[in-house]
Amino acid sequence: MYGTGTSTTSGAVNDVFLFMVVVSVILLLVVTALMIYFSVKYRRSRRPKADQIEGSLPLEILWTIIPTVIVLFMFYFGFEGFKTLRDVPEDAMTVKVTGRMWDWSFTYENGKKSNTLFVPVDRPIKLAMTSLDVIHSFFIPAFRIKEDVVPGRETYLWFRPQTTGPADVFCAEYCGQSHAYMMSEVLVMNEEDFQQWYADTTDVPQGRSGPGLLGEQGCLGCHSLDGREDIGPTFKGLFGSERTVIRDEEETTVTADEEYLRRAIVDPSEEIVKGFYNVMPQARNIADEDLQAMIDYIKTLE
Ligand code: CUA
Repeated sequence: MYGTGTSTTSGAVNDVFLFMVVVSVILLLVVTALMIYFSVKYRRSRRPKADQIEGSLPLEILWTIIPTVIVLFMFYFGFEGFKTLRDVPEDAMTVKVTGRMWDWSFTYENGKKSNTLFVPVDRPIKLAMTSLDVIHSFFIPAFRIKEDVVPGRETYLWFRPQTTGPADVFCAEYCGQSHAYMMSEVLVMNEEDFQQWYADTTDVPQGRSGPGLLGEQGCLGCHSLDGREDIGPTFKGLFGSERTVIRDEEETTVTADEEYLRRAIVDPSEEIVKGFYNVMPQARNIADEDLQAMIDYIKTLE
C-alpha cells in the first residue's frame, strides 16, 4: 500500500535502521542466552548457599567500553544519514508544497498546480513546504522522509526517486477531524512523460477561475462536483435547492441562494446541513472577487 518507489533518501535511512536492528538482535540473543545459562548453572539444588562476589574491574571496564563504541557507531551512521537528508543538491527542482486542513497542493516553478506530486525519475526534487493553518507533517513512507509543515515558516525535504510508479503521501501530525484523510500521492514518471506533463500549461489558471479556486482553497477535498456525497455535501445541484440545516440547534429549511453560499463559505459553522458534521474550517483571506468567482461557478453546477 505504500507504493513501490524508492529514492536515494530511503537508502540512508534503511542502512541506519538495519544497523540498529542487527545490533539490538545480537544483544538480545546474548543477554537471553546468558540468563538461561546462569539460571541453570547456579540453580538452588546445586548451590543452596550463594557466594559473595566483590565485583571485577576488568569486566566493569569492558562492559562500559563496548556499549559506548556501539552507540558511537550508531551516532556516526545516524549523522551521516541525517546529512544526506538535509543537504539538498544544487541542481534540485523545487516544488512548493502547501498543507491545509485537509489536503496537500503542489505548485511548480512554471505556475502549474496539482494535488498529486508529479516528479521525473532520477532527478533531485526539493519540496519547499508551508502550511496555511495548523501544523501538519509531510510524510512519504516509501522514500523514508518526513518533515513538519508549519504556518508562517518554510521547511524542506528532498529526494531523488529511483524507480517510476506511485507512492503514498500522508499527513503525520494530528491536525483535526479529517487528519486521517489528508492523503495524496507522488507519481514518479520517466523524464519524457514528465516533460510532456510539465510543458502543458493550458490548465494553469489565467486570472482567477472558479474551478481553480475551489481546488486551491481545498474545497474539493470534501465537496464533490459530480453529485457524490463526501465529507461535505456535493456542489452539484446545490444552487437554488432547498436545504435542511441546523441553525442554533434548531432545524430549518433555507434556499441555497447566493447569500447562503456566501455564508456557508465565510462562516461555515453558522448553519450545518443536516446529516453532516461541523468540520469545515473557516475560509481565511479570500478576496471578494475570488469569493464571487467561486460562487458564480457553483451556481453553474446543475
Ligand atoms: Cu494535516 Cu494531519
